Amino acid sequence: MIDYNKIISEYSPDKTEREKLKRISSGIIDKINLICKNENINAFPVEVGSVSKKTNLKCSDIDIFITFDKKYSKEFIEKKGVEIGHKILNNGVEKYAEHPYVSGTVDNIKVDIVPAFKINKGEKIISTVDRTPLHTEYVNENTDEMKIKDILLLKIFMKTVNVYGSEVSKSGFSGYLCELLIIKYGCFDNVIKKFAGLKGKLIVPEDKTLEKKFEEPVIIIDPVDPTRNAGAAVSIENLSRMKIASKLFISGIDVFNLKNNEMNKINKINRGTIIKVFSLKKPDIIDDIIYPQAVRLKNKIWEIMYRNGFIPLSWEIDIEHDIEILIECERDTIPLVSVHMGPPAESDESLKFINVWKNNKRLIRGPYILNDRLYVDIRNKYVKFEDVFNNEIKSMDIGKNIDNLKNDIKICDVDENIPMNVVNKFYLKSLFND
Ligand code: UTP
Ligand code: MN
Repeated sequence: MIDYNKIISEYSPDKTEREKLKRISSGIIDKINLICKNENINAFPVEVGSVSKKTNLKCSDIDIFITFDKKYSKEFIEKKGVEIGHKILNNGVEKYAEHPYVSGTVDNIKVDIVPAFKINKGEKIISTVDRTPLHTEYVNENTDEMKIKDILLLKIFMKTVNVYGSEVSKSGFSGYLCELLIIKYGCFDNVIKKFAGLKGKLIVPEDKTLEKKFEEPVIIIDPVDPTRNAGAAVSIENLSRMKIASKLFISGIDVFNLKNNEMNKINKINRGTIIKVFSLKKPDIIDDIIYPQAVRLKNKIWEIMYRNGFIPLSWEIDIEHDIEILIECERDTIPLVSVHMGPPAESDESLKFINVWKNNKRLIRGPYILNDRLYVDIRNKYVKFEDVFNNEIKSMDIGKNIDNLKNDIKICDVDENIPMNVVNKFYLKSLFND
C-alpha cells in the first residue's frame, strides 16, 4: 500500500516555511492597506492562489491581489497597482500577461502583486484576473482538511508525471483545476479512476452538449464564471499522459516514485542518428510569449531539414535559461547530387524542361529518361546542414521577439563531448521523465 500521508508531508512546506509565508504575506497586506489609506484609495489587498487555500506545496509563490472599487478606470488601477507593487517589492519587475502586474521576491519567496477589480459573486468581470479572488472563496467554501490533502496529492501526482502547470510551455493542469477536480469527484482515488477509465474528452460537469460549446480536450466549467473553460490550457498530450499514468497507478505501479523506475533510464546516446542543439539567448520577456516563438523557430528548422533531405526525427524545446531546441535527424550531410523530377515524356512541357536544364551550371547528369518521365541530376549548392541552415535562415522571419537574434543561433552537435546535463535535460523524454 502506498502511504499517502508520507508522500504529502514529503512535498508539503514544513512549519518554518508555513510561518515564513504567513509573515511575508501579512506584512505585504499591511503595507498595501497603509498605502491605500494614506492615498485615500478605495482598494483592498487579498491573498489568493494556493497559499490562501492551503493547497500549496513546498516552494510555492505568494499571490496578492489589490482589488479596486469598480468606480476606477482600468488605466488607473493598472497604473496604481503597478506603482504599489514596486513600492512593496524593491526587486520587482513589471510583467504583462493580459494585464500588467509586478513580480519580485521577498526573502527568496516569489511574490506576484496583481491589480484587479473587486467583483462580487455573480457580477460581470471586467478583466480575466478579476475572477481569481472568487476562486479562492469558492475553493475555501468547498474544501475541508481531507479534501485539501487530496488536492495536494493530486498536484504531486501531476508534477511527477509532468502535467502540472498552466504556463504555455507546460500546457498542463493548473492548481485551480486540481482543486476543482477534487471538489467534483470527492477524493484523489476517484479522480484517478476517472482519468483511467476516461474515453475522449474530460468534461466537468459531465454534460455532452458542452463539447459543442468548447473545442478543447479538457472542458472544466469555471464555477465562478460558467462562460469560461478553466481547462482550456490543457493539451491533448497532457490529457493522454494523465490517462496512461492513472491506468498504470491503478494497475499497481507506484507512479509517485517513477523517478527511480527503469522507465526513466532511456537516456542512451547511441541511436545512430545525429542530434543537434540550437541555442540562442532568451530575451527578457515572459515565457508565455517566448515559448510559442521557440516552437515556431523549431518548425522552421524542422522544415529546412525536411525539405533538404536531412530527415528530422524528433525534437525537444527548453526555454528555462536560454532558448534551446534539440532536433534529432538521420544525417547532417547530404550527397552532392540530388535527383530532380521533370515532366512526363509525352507532356507539352518536356522540351521546355530539356532546354531549361541542358546548359545549367548545376547540371551533373541528364536530362535523362526513367520510365515515362524526364529527370536531371543536379549539384547541391550546400551539402552540410550548417551551410544550408545559415543560407536559408537569413531570409526567414523567425518570430517577433527573436528575429534580431537569428544570426547568433549556436548549433552544437550532441556527441560524447557534450555535458551530460545538456543531454539529460532534453534527451528524448520518455513517458514520465521530467
Ligand atoms: P498560480 O499559477 O500561482 O496557481 O495562480 P496556484 O493555485 O497558486 O498554484 P501553485 O501552488 O502556485 O502552483 C494563482 C491563481 O490564479 C488563478 C487561480 O485562481 C490561481 O489560484 N489562475 C491561475 C487561473 O484561474 N487559471 C490559471 O491558469 C492560472
Ligand atoms: Mn501560486
